[in-house]
Amino acid sequence: MTSTAVLTQNSVDTIAWTPEGVVMIDQTRLPNETNFVTCRTYVDVANAIRTMIIRGAPAIGVAAAMGVALGALHSNNLEADMPLICETLAKTRPTAVNLFWAIDRMRGIYTASKHLDIAQIRARLVEEAQRVREEDIAINEAIGRNGADLVPDGKTVLTHCNAGALATAGFGTALGVIRAAVRMGKKIDVFADETRPFLQGARLTAWELQRDGIDTTLITDNMAGHFLKSGRIGCVVVGADRIAANGDVANKVGTYGVAVLAKENNVPFYVAAPISTLDLTLESGDQIPIEERDRKEVTHIRGVAVAPEGIKVANPAFDVTPNRYVTAIITERGVARAPYIDNLRLLSL
Ligand code: MRU
Repeated sequence: MTSTAVLTQNSVDTIAWTPEGVVMIDQTRLPNETNFVTCRTYVDVANAIRTMIIRGAPAIGVAAAMGVALGALHSNNLEADMPLICETLAKTRPTAVNLFWAIDRMRGIYTASKHLDIAQIRARLVEEAQRVREEDIAINEAIGRNGADLVPDGKTVLTHCNAGALATAGFGTALGVIRAAVRMGKKIDVFADETRPFLQGARLTAWELQRDGIDTTLITDNMAGHFLKSGRIGCVVVGADRIAANGDVANKVGTYGVAVLAKENNVPFYVAAPISTLDLTLESGDQIPIEERDRKEVTHIRGVAVAPEGIKVANPAFDVTPNRYVTAIITERGVARAPYIDNLRLLSL
């Protein structure tokens, strides 16, 4: 994996397939440095997902698809190597279902191409990975169109974590809805939770919305209740990492608290996500695996200790918001409302 610093850059691609390899913006270095890393092997891609160089459910899915394609390009015995390539990528992070969805999709292409020669199989896998990326941008634009009407004009939208262009191949899911509402001419501004401990809100959402010229105010996570009670927040829009058949939503830790506070204050709570984030094999959110991350993310900020050495730490990266707090789920195929058990299945057909 190699890293390149770019000093000025107008439009940022989260991830791209290039002749040199898979190029990603390094999200661990934002907002201080705009750096791009080139992944030359599928192991590089797996490491990039694990270390959060790329993160956000749809972006992880695109990266995994490109990782499989990269693995195939360097293999002379696909039948022997494909299981290891897929397994290595699948083991990187457990919660975002888009990772497994993308690997399954690539495995399907491989199975359907087995009768071809190896050069043709590789070409098909590379094409498919690029298609996953292109489709993701189109899907996010459709999510934006479907959600923009729900955003009240003249009010503030609250969001948590980063469900923006950086969390996807482009445009974003929750931030896609905000961008589409702005494009419609709605006068809105955004409150972005900083999103401890990894600070996706402060480092990434604030960065990308500021670049877009969208009026954005950064708040710490514990300020959300104060502003939800104040009457200025018109709605909450967040993304999702996995949505169970009953509409329970796993998203960045802290989302559940925001959802409860939104309901308490009669503020609509919307989840924006592609159909590939639905996991209809799970009856409820209780079955969603929750990633536990390194204790140092909690005890340290940018390498500086903020807690006593040896303190016990819990660091679940996600929480599950029960469906009763979710006003609607905005997808590229339309908007689902309760009863989710019926309406998500209908959208997924
Ligand atoms: O740990 P992360 O940064 O991968 O978590 C990201 C989130 O929780 C996002 O809100 C979610 O993936 C939706 S992104 C469109």
